[in-house]
Amino acid sequence: MSGSQRVRVELASRSYDIVAGNGVLDDAAAWEGLGRGVQALVVSNTTVAPLYAQRVSDALKTRCSGVAVLELGDGESHKVWGSVEAIVDALLARGADRASMLVALGGGVVGDVTGFAAACYMRGIDYVQVPTTLLAQVDSSVGGKTAINHPLGKNMIGAFHQPLRVIADVDTLRTLPQRELVAGLAEVIKHGAIADDDFLAWIEANLALLLGRDAAALQHAVVRSCEIKAAVVADDEREAGQREVLNFGHTFGHAIEAGLGFGVWLHGEAVGCGMVLAARASAALGLIDGDRADRVTRLVANAGLPVRPPDMAVDRWIELMRHDKKSRGGSLRLVLLDAAGSARTRAVGEDRIRDLIGAALR
Ligand code: NAD
Ligand code: GLY
Repeated sequence: MSGSQRVRVELASRSYDIVAGNGVLDDAAAWEGLGRGVQALVVSNTTVAPLYAQRVSDALKTRCSGVAVLELGDGESHKVWGSVEAIVDALLARGADRASMLVALGGGVVGDVTGFAAACYMRGIDYVQVPTTLLAQVDSSVGGKTAINHPLGKNMIGAFHQPLRVIADVDTLRTLPQRELVAGLAEVIKHGAIADDDFLAWIEANLALLLGRDAAALQHAVVRSCEIKAAVVADDEREAGQREVLNFGHTFGHAIEAGLGFGVWLHGEAVGCGMVLAARASAALGLIDGDRADRVTRLVANAGLPVRPPDMAVDRWIELMRHDKKSRGGSLRLVLLDAAGSARTRAVGEDRIRDLIGAALR
């Protein structure tokens, strides 16, 4: 096991550590202080549980009064009320009380639904995130956004509920399908683009190692991404303003996901292409020079993410982008890059967005 690293998410009484490293699932220090004498329910899915649930249960058995594993089905279609009910059923069947703890073992789907169930059960119980996709390790397990989907919209039912700890074992990424690994890289690139030019340069220089799943490179990508996200969340836990920068590329990305039908492009693939469009919008508005927009485009392409948007009528793009949670009073707001290597949300005229999409589709 290589040395693990800790990143603190500073949120007063809701502060917690992210423990990241190769082999941390089996490291007693990573679990220290969690679940002493309480019942734990590990929530996972039919793909991840056979791979890692035994190791997580073993780690918990030494400290908890009881440990059980619940397997949900795999996929976004399981991020629904039925899964929350299954978790609550399992907790009640075991007589779980307010001191009980949930452990989310899996990607962002398992993390989001388990976190939401933890926020709801007896008005809120503890949970630990054990993310096993790159996307979950660098993004969704951190920051306390939990949600399930509604037939009329993704993530429409949810709560802010911070985990007690995040235990991110980069060794688990060795079994991740390559397409999922690449999708997770989009969120890593996002963190460099919005907050840290040196990190962006590091990603450029180490892309081959990341794509080849070098453990040390992946650990650095996870730790630096978590440091950047932790700082943003510490300043704006409930997304009153600055946290919106974590949505760089997401306004275009969500339009792609919804327009094509969820799952056709993975979230990270849509975000990758969305970042290219948002970088071009930043250049079109004179906030960055064209070279910087080209740099983002090159990195997204070299990572193996799509840079050409899917063919959709421009009117359809605008309609879908209006559903973005950042829209205010019907006007579109985008997270845009600036010359200082940071980002902020700005209102952008519909005509400019139409021109930009039209040019990208030509
Ligand atoms: P996912 O959870 O569907 O996982 C992707 C696939 O990889 C699944 O088939 C899963 O079973 C499999 N898998 C997971 N770990 C594996 C491993 N180690 N080895 C082999 N297979 C493995 O997808 P995701 O990309 O992790 O998460 C996407 C979800 O995250 C979306 O629902 C999105 O809305 C949400 N999200 C939430 C936040 C947040 O802040 N809460 C942020 C970004 C995304
Ligand atoms: N993934 C965006 C956020 O957590 O705010």
